[in-house]
Amino acid sequence: MNFKYRDIISIKDFSREEVDYLIKTADRIASMDKRRYTVLSSQILGTVFFEPSTRTRLSFEAAMRRLGGDVIGFGEPGMSSVKKGETLADTIRVVENYVDAIVLRHPLEGSARMAADFASIPIINAGSGAEEHPTQAFLDLFTIFKEKGKISGLTVGLLGDLRYGRTVHSLTYALSLYDDVTLYLISPEELKIRKEVFNTIKNKMKVQEFVKLEDVLPKLDVLYATRIQKERFPDISEYEKIKGIYNINLETLKNAKEDLILMHPLPRVDEISPEVDQTRHAVYFKQAKYGLIMRMAILGLVLGGF
Ligand code: NCD
Repeated sequence: MNFKYRDIISIKDFSREEVDYLIKTADRIASMDKRRYTVLSSQILGTVFFEPSTRTRLSFEAAMRRLGGDVIGFGEPGMSSVKKGETLADTIRVVENYVDAIVLRHPLEGSARMAADFASIPIINAGSGAEEHPTQAFLDLFTIFKEKGKISGLTVGLLGDLRYGRTVHSLTYALSLYDDVTLYLISPEELKIRKEVFNTIKNKMKVQEFVKLEDVLPKLDVLYATRIQKERFPDISEYEKIKGIYNINLETLKNAKEDLILMHPLPRVDEISPEVDQTRHAVYFKQAKYGLIMRMAILGLVLGGF
């Protein structure tokens, strides 16, 4: 298994064996003695974020520090020379002199791939526009594995903004690597998953599209809700028409399987009512914790710590 100095740009670059190995590594870290986390001492991670982030940036930073490494970077491009007009390529070519790997979030699709072409150190894609968010998919799979004990054979519903939501694109590709997964894609007509994603997976798994959650909810083992990506709509009036279309509350969940897990990459807006947080279904805050562990696994492997 070769992860050392590898770029993490798209889920499509990874095999089932590699994804399983990441999950196994994360699981090993979860049970490890915290005092042994020194494998990345003397290494530095650069975080270059051109879009807002809470979980992704902070969990990468925490993961690097927990492995004994250090972090530099910016979460607000207004504080860097990007404000003065510096290009992404130049930014990457400068930052790579100071660090051992770069975690990049950028509003443009293809940005991570382009950065990797310029850089001689690993680039980890932390979100490239509406296109992909591969490390989120790794942590989503790790969450499913920990909470359900398996991934193959499950019935999974993806709900909400399947058009602009990058986490669902990466997760869809990732789930298609497993055996006998049934995927229900639940969204309004305007936010259906992109054709390119649908066409890539349609021969690899059972997949069906729905508009109403109640039509499939009772069959689901996993429900993955997402935020409508307001900032990515070319026309805000289109967003206004469909905002708030889904709301999961206690009433909704009455028809769910006893052991359904409800996931969300967060942040949530109004897709899940706070009253649901206390139910056995809600795993989204745990999911954020699994994110830290998975990112420790990613950094440890990419930077040669394990
Ligand atoms: C997501 C993202 O940035 O794509 N957040 C995350 O990384 N957990 C989801 C979102 O913004 O809706």
